[in-house]
Order: sequence, then C-alpha cells, then structure tokens
Amino acid sequence: MATVLSVSGSPSATSRTARLLRHLDRRLTAQGHEVVPLDVRTIPAEALLGADFRHPAIVRASELFARADGVVIGTPVYKAAYSGLLKSLLDLLPQYGLVGKTVLPLATGGTTAHILAIDYALRPVLSSMGAAHIVQGWFTLDKDIEVGDDGTLTVAPGAAEALAQVVDQFSDALVSRTPLPAVAGQAA
Ligand SMILES: Cc1cc2nc3c(=O)[nH]c(=O)nc-3n(C[C@H](O)[C@H](O)[C@H](O)COP(=O)(O)O)c2cc1C
Repeated sequence: MATVLSVSGSPSATSRTARLLRHLDRRLTAQGHEVVPLDVRTIPAEALLGADFRHPAIVRASELFARADGVVIGTPVYKAAYSGLLKSLLDLLPQYGLVGKTVLPLATGGTTAHILAIDYALRPVLSSMGAAHIVQGWFTLDKDIEVGDDGTLTVAPGAAEALAQVVDQFSDALVSRTPLPAVAGQAA
C-alpha cells in the first residue's frame, strides 16, 4: 500500500485538529497504509522561526515528506487562513516538496464563514509545491469534535460520515496513483 505522512499544523497542546488526524490515521492504517504522524508543534521553535534548514528536526521533517506517497495536511483555521505554524514548516521544505504526492487537506474552525479556507488559502500553497493530486478536503467545525475526559474523541455524525468519505477517496487515490517515471540511470 502507501506511506502516508499525517501532519497537524496546530500549535495547541490540546489540539482538536491533531486528535482528529490521529483518529483518521487509524482508518488509513486499517486500509493497509503505513501512517507516520507529525505534529509540527513538536519541532523546536528556533528551527522553524529561524529558518534553520539544517536543524535535525527540519531535516527529519523534510525526509518524512520526501518518503511519503501521500500527505494529510490538517490545520486549524486562524484569521481566515491556515495556521502560521504550518506555514513556517512548509516554507522550509523544498519548493517542489510535494511533487508526485497525493494530498488530503483538512481544516477545523470555529465558524462556517471560513469553510472555504482550504480552497482559497491552503490549496494554492499545496499546488505551488507540486502536489500531484489534491483530493477533496474537508472543513470540520470545532464544536463537532468532542474530546472526553478520558481523551476519547467523538465526531458529530454528519461530520464523521463526510470525513470517512474524504479519507476513503484519499485512500483510493493513493492505491490508484501512477508512480513517477524513473530518472535515467536510477532504479525505479
Ligand atoms: C488565534 C486563533 C484564530 C482563529 N481564527 C479563526 C478564524 O478566522 N476562523 C475560524 O473559523 N476559526 C478560527 N479560530 C478557531 C479555531 O480554528 C478552531 O477552534 C480550531 O478547531 C482550533 O483547532 P486546534 O484545537 O487544533 O488548535 C481561531 C482560533 C484561534 C486560537
């Protein structure tokens, strides 16, 4: 199957976005994919804000992107767009760091006024980085994601169905992807 990097761009220690992604990771794993989680907030701030391309955490993150067939990008909506934390990492990746990759963009937010933030803010960035295929994304209202005292995640029924559908479409796109042609002189 495929290797999927699942990236949460929330700076919050109690992030709903991150919890939602880890919940969806399990669905992808059950479908046979190898899922690697990455919470951008765990990358040292001095590396992100100082644009330290050589910092081991940045090098590792770049390698995780390079190795992935598919990338789930999850972000809270901040000021009508995606989080600055997510942007600080994307800015340190190679310009075409998503070439050949299938991408699933997901957002959580407090108001449906910003339901299109994925399409007007995030999608163009992913596209500029060369993503081969950006599948349909999904915006989930924060009030539809409930975290119990024991950490259990409950997603409101309508949102849960929609998320399952976009995750399955992403999984199907990964399965049917066409590998990039081998560069002359290199093994496929
Ligand atoms: C600084 C800040 C700015 C926000 N701006 C918006 C916004 O413009 N539109 C929106 O729908 N929600 C906005 N929200 C609400 C968050 O997007 C929402 O609560 C989200 O689910 C938080 O995700 P997290 O728990 O993963 O950090 C904002 C929240 C914060 C803290």
